[in-house]
Amino acid sequence: MSETTRQLRFEIFRYNPEDADSEPHTDVFELEETPFMTLYIALNQIREKFDPGLQFDFACRSAICGSCAMMVNGRPALACRTLTSDLPDKICLYPLPVFKLIGDLSVDTGTWFRAMVERTEAWIHERLPFDPDATEERMSDDIAAAIYENDRCIECGCCVAACGAANIDSAFLAGAGLNRIARFQMDPRDQRTDADWFEVLASEQGVFACIGMMACEDVCPKELPLLDVYGYLRRKSLATALSSREK
Ligand code: FES
Repeated sequence: MSETTRQLRFEIFRYNPEDADSEPHTDVFELEETPFMTLYIALNQIREKFDPGLQFDFACRSAICGSCAMMVNGRPALACRTLTSDLPDKICLYPLPVFKLIGDLSVDTGTWFRAMVERTEAWIHERLPFDPDATEERMSDDIAAAIYENDRCIECGCCVAACGAANIDSAFLAGAGLNRIARFQMDPRDQRTDADWFEVLASEQGVFACIGMMACEDVCPKELPLLDVYGYLRRKSLATALSSREK
């Protein structure tokens, strides 16, 4: 073994909730580190060499699909984007909290995100009837760029798993849900009023339920400006509340 080659020790959470005989525990696996090894590569080697039953998710292998998020030494991260060279010799892998466990490192983020989309009605609300002959409406470059920035979310669930409020109440909208609201609230094609949005934003699971840890922005693999999102939505909500009192 060369001087620079490390022996990595992986402690991996194992549990199959569908199997009555399964008990939550960790299994230990050892691998020799190779250049540019990611956790995705390491997990595939572990599955090929030691345990074909190990469950974890991936699809794109390039930080686009969001399916490989897991707790890496206590912090949510994408397995396909995390280099083992950035980690110590001992690597602990657990499934994301908040989401329903499917098995081992695999969780069901889809149910959470679907509920969030339905709750926030995350689609353009147009009040006028569809007119196929209408000319296209222009959008300013600044607004288009701001919407695109929010639309970069890959729904990996890292911000939700890192969120103290979401760990207490899984219905809290968290960074991903509030980012989605900001995306539609700033879209001029969406005809919902600030008062309409206030119903969601001022609810018990809305923007004021955040407990201020701001871990969401720290762990977001796409580096979305979630603190700006919180500031934008809080200013909007306070302005709506104050204007309704003045009426
Ligand atoms: S496999 Fe798609 S984000 Fe990691």
